[in-house]
Amino acid sequence: MSRLLNAVTLLTVLASPAAPLYAQQVAGPDEPYARGIVVADHPLASEAGAEVLRRGGNVVDAAVATAFALSVVRPESCGLGGGGFMVIWNAERQEAVAIDYREQAPRHASRDMYIKERDGKPLPADASRKGGLAAGVPGEVAGLCYALETYGSLDRSVVMQPAIRLAREGVDVDAQMRSAQRRTLAALAQRKNGMQQFAPLVRHYLNGGTQWNEGDRFHSPLAHLLERIAEQGRDAFYRGPVAEALVAANQSQGGILTLEDLATMEPRIRQPLEARFSGMKVISMPPPSSGGIALIQTLNTLSAWEAKHPDQRLELLGHNTVESVQLLTEALKHAFADRARFLGDTDFAEVPVDKLISNEYAATIASKIQLDQTHPADFYGTTAAHRDAGTSHFCVIDAAGNAVACTETINTTYGSYVVEPKYGVIFNNEMDDFTARPGEPNVFGLMQSEANAIAPGKKPLSSMSPTIVVEDGKAVMAAGASGGPRIITATLQVLLNMTRFGMSPSEAVSAPRVHHQWMPDELLIERAIRSKVGPRLEKIGHEVKSSSGLAASQAASRSEDGLRGGSDPRKGGQPAGW
Ligand code: DON
Repeated sequence: MSRLLNAVTLLTVLASPAAPLYAQQVAGPDEPYARGIVVADHPLASEAGAEVLRRGGNVVDAAVATAFALSVVRPESCGLGGGGFMVIWNAERQEAVAIDYREQAPRHASRDMYIKERDGKPLPADASRKGGLAAGVPGEVAGLCYALETYGSLDRSVVMQPAIRLAREGVDVDAQMRSAQRRTLAALAQRKNGMQQFAPLVRHYLNGGTQWNEGDRFHSPLAHLLERIAEQGRDAFYRGPVAEALVAANQSQGGILTLEDLATMEPRIRQPLEARFSGMKVISMPPPSSGGIALIQTLNTLSAWEAKHPDQRLELLGHNTVESVQLLTEALKHAFADRARFLGDTDFAEVPVDKLISNEYAATIASKIQLDQTHPADFYGTTAAHRDAGTSHFCVIDAAGNAVACTETINTTYGSYVVEPKYGVIFNNEMDDFTARPGEPNVFGLMQSEANAIAPGKKPLSSMSPTIVVEDGKAVMAAGASGGPRIITATLQVLLNMTRFGMSPSEAVSAPRVHHQWMPDELLIERAIRSKVGPRLEKIGHEVKSSSGLAASQAASRSEDGLRGGSDPRKGGQPAGW
């Protein structure tokens, strides 16, 4: 296997590979690290990646270590039963690659599987969200093993060691986990026989149903399976006793997963989308994510607007002012209307990607924007037809300008609630990201078209937007978020905060945000700026709603004086590095 990112000449091994390297520097939020930084939404996941950097690993080694650690410390958000997207920038080769290890529809899935009756009975209304039928074929283990073998430099056993240690030793339960537990126990209590139906989830991940308190510890059930994967690689998950146990658990809950679905699951390598913004190269995720297209379309629209209105550049309009929020909102309404209408997995559907990210198209959109007026939803397009939950984003940058931006998901909090009882894998509920019931919105209120209809082997459209910004051939920023469609708007605003408003990563991820996704036709504004900008945006014609928190974003930057990172205070992570 090639070792594309092997040349991490700056990183020297400080101790024997067997023991953890505790000699890390701890930088404050804005104090830079010199050699490498990892920014996840849990401090111990960042630290797992940083530990691997200190052992001489490259940015992909660190990313894989972070991802496996997240499966232990953020089980409500991502993990072995889910999937993700990893965007990599190799500064030495000047090469960008995107690894797509998103879940895919099982081979027995079909377009109308959630609207048809089954065995003469109608399916539960939430069949695409909870239970066995909600799960897509997990891609996580295949993707991480592929990333490591192809672009990493260290052995799997070294890279997975921090995750295994965290699973063996247990971790302190944090506020995010307590909140996820509280919400999930309440949701289970509202379902008929919810606690019994999803007993393995309650036992392994919800403290047996007893509310966690501060100071309690969580012991992940994944230690044994992680060790097997460290020894045997992907086959430990996709073939043999674990695969058999996964299929049995899925089918016993009404699912259609087969051994063949698992054995044939492979990551796909995609060419990332690229665009220029503010003189820099923006690299982001192509379909089956909508994130890169919507992000680039919006950035292009802003550039086209500024070319036409040089006295109304975004930074001249000001950060989070009525005018700048209005400009962003109008650009976003067009981008999300196009998302709903055109986007789906390009391996199955015809998607006009080139047109949507072209400068000509952006100029057409910009010419329709007015700073004192908004329009009803059908002006932007038509379709043929909360709190942070089941996703986690992290970034890694090193001093040489290599970077990884990676977002992983099991969709909503604790995914489908189905847990394989012996090995502890939580099944995703990614099938709800398809147009599961044509004409109806999904759990995030997103309307979607036939392009995103279910088909065997097809991937559900995603909003995950792992993004890297490159200047002079080296990564200068990486960003992304969790939060459904709010991922796109959060990533956009964080990048604008850094590129246009001169903010550090921690300022950029902390600043209040807004969100509009075209449908529902409402503008969400975080409370900190609701009274400042809300009334005038209502006068322009927006239906304004307050939000307590819009998405959770992690970002990192590299400049001459070092590497900085910001983990979103909305979720409670913390960067680590050296
Ligand atoms: O791929 C997607 O777009 C969704 N599965 C993401 C869900 C999400 O971000 C939930 N929350 N934190």
